[in-house]
Amino acid sequence: MTILLQNIKARREHDNYPTPAHIAKWVVEKCFKLVAPSTTYFFLEPGCGDRAPFAKVASELSDRPLLIDIMDLRPVVSNEIYYNMVGSEIDYLNEQQDWRSDKYKYDVIATNPPFKVALQFWKRSMQLLNHGGVLGLVVKLSFLASKKRAETWRSNPPAEVHVFYPRPSFSGDGGTDIAQEYCAAFWYRPEMARIICRSPLTTMSWVNLKEVEGNKNV
Ligand SMILES: C[S@@+](CC[C@H](N)C(=O)[O-])C[C@H]1O[C@@H](n2cnc3c(N)ncnc32)[C@H](O)[C@@H]1O
Repeated sequence: MTILLQNIKARREHDNYPTPAHIAKWVVEKCFKLVAPSTTYFFLEPGCGDRAPFAKVASELSDRPLLIDIMDLRPVVSNEIYYNMVGSEIDYLNEQQDWRSDKYKYDVIATNPPFKVALQFWKRSMQLLNHGGVLGLVVKLSFLASKKRAETWRSNPPAEVHVFYPRPSFSGDGGTDIAQEYCAAFWYRPEMARIICRSPLTTMSWVNLKEVEGNKNV
């Protein structure tokens, strides 16, 4: 028991674990493939952290006009001109704090949610999705399990789940949590899922992150 406790590292405040750029790029590319075509895309990275990796690659990848909002519970320092709205020190889960530049919803929402409130992030994001919009989350595989969440996923199955291997590192030092595996999961709004998906079943694949990291075009 003593050994086990010594091995448990304290989690960073607000689950501040940045996503490696190649994973963010892979997820955003997938989102742009899944989202319903539109002349302009409204894009949001909630809980953007210090680097807003999903928003940054979105600005580089989109083939059409993009309005990008980023926000975080912690102070957001950004002088990038392509961010339409920067919500600094805003609680994404507090619906009273409407930090958005307008009342529009988003075509693409992508992030790596804080683990402790990942389900609440998922719920809030589904509320903020536009018709035809897509939500892409990098989550622990265990997020898709548990008695508490099973009924939620049964009623709102992800359209796609892509399991990552080898285990990615979010600590910035290459270290991994041996107890955790990760995936990217994608959801449509429930009514759109019925129209867009030919089958209500979730599509799954297994993604070799070494290939993703090595392939500049992935
Ligand atoms: C796992 S990190 C991901 C950061 C960034 N999206 C990335 O992928 O590198 C989670 C982020 O969510 C932020 N966060 C935690 N709770 C939040 C909340 N209630 N509202 C907004 N942001 C929150 C944390 O400050 C942290 O920056």
